[in-house]
Amino acid sequence: MPRTTPPWSSSAPDRRRVMAAGLATLGAGAVSLLSPRGSAAATVALRKLAADKGLLYGTTIAAAQITGDRPFIDLVRQEAGLVVAENEMKWQVMNRGTPGDDEYGPADTVATFAAANSLVLRGHNLLWYYRTPDWFFDLPDRAEQERAVLDHIEQLAGRYRGRIHSWDVINEPIEPKDGRPDGLRTAVFLETLGPEYLDLAYHAARDADPKARLVVNEYDVELDAPEQETRRVALLHLLERMRGSGTPVDAVGIQAHLTAVGGPPFSAPLLRRFLAEIAGLGLTIQITELDVTDENAPADVAVRDSLVADTYRRFLDAALDEPAVKMVVTWGLSDRHSWIVRHETYQAKWRTDDAASRPLPFDADLEAKPAFEAIVRAFEHAPARTAG
Ligand code: G3I
Repeated sequence: MPRTTPPWSSSAPDRRRVMAAGLATLGAGAVSLLSPRGSAAATVALRKLAADKGLLYGTTIAAAQITGDRPFIDLVRQEAGLVVAENEMKWQVMNRGTPGDDEYGPADTVATFAAANSLVLRGHNLLWYYRTPDWFFDLPDRAEQERAVLDHIEQLAGRYRGRIHSWDVINEPIEPKDGRPDGLRTAVFLETLGPEYLDLAYHAARDADPKARLVVNEYDVELDAPEQETRRVALLHLLERMRGSGTPVDAVGIQAHLTAVGGPPFSAPLLRRFLAEIAGLGLTIQITELDVTDENAPADVAVRDSLVADTYRRFLDAALDEPAVKMVVTWGLSDRHSWIVRHETYQAKWRTDDAASRPLPFDADLEAKPAFEAIVRAFEHAPARTAG
């Protein structure tokens, strides 16, 4: 069941006390976040703090939010310098059931909104094994699959040519559990097209939209766990191969779906080292899907929010030390619209009590949370870099 209204009912003064507790740690000179709803965030718009350091800050958005949730959209306009369609540009979501029959309405709504508000637009995504139309699996041979992939990239990237800052060309190409020595995911495209599908897709994307930065977007590569190390190694090898063979790739997307309590350990030196290795390949880095689940955190909102905020802070403080990191996107802006709160995560990420998760910088009432403060502080502390 989607839950858009959180069951906790803490009053506004209670929430402000939470914010005050957080502020106490900010120290002299910190920007006050205690003003009433809306104005606090206006004082310290994330997009502005990010831009001051050469960073782009953005959030997911959905066409239905643009047409149906004005207060939320006002908050997006206030805080974000970039938007990305959470689902509307995914092949399976756009496709009506037969090859080439795609519905562009919702994706156009997002693209038009971005242009009308001078927001940078990310493209997510051109190919993702998990959101590939059903008919693709029935295509009889390699030639037809190749044609379908090329047509799709040409049509989708071509439609928004010149309007997309970065495309996630292949989303999540790594899966060491599939058992290949190169760590590549076998499903769906590699099975018939072979590993060359990557080269094919990135060249097609470059041809369709020469100015878009082309990204490899991957998950579970941020933390200090053996299985994540295996994924990091496979990703770095893939990037080396792509660079070596002239496959056009410009950036790596680090999804960063984090967990406040009970997840794999975080190591700042390890993350810094990994990001430096990516930068050493001449690539820029984008934090593409940052959010923090709180399934193992206590129900108490203040405690929970502080644990979530601390997770944002530790991750961003380390990540933003790397000057090749040019972008931070949170996977949503408010708990009102989060895939975690909507229970679109694995069940293991759901809270087992009745409390709704609180994974994003603003709560479901669009009030800034300690996670917002943590991002503010991380942007303030980040070294300046050239934009990219
Ligand atoms: O729109 C339908 C709605 O009509 C229906 O009533 C409802 C019933 O379940 O489903 C709705 O569709 C859901 C859709 O999100 C929109 O909310 C789908 O079931 C659900 O599977 C889908 O989940 C999305 C998921 O990707 C799979 O595409 C999440 O919103 C989205 O946040 C998530 O995003 C992914 C990134 O693309 C890639 N990286 C991981 C990230 C999180 O999984």
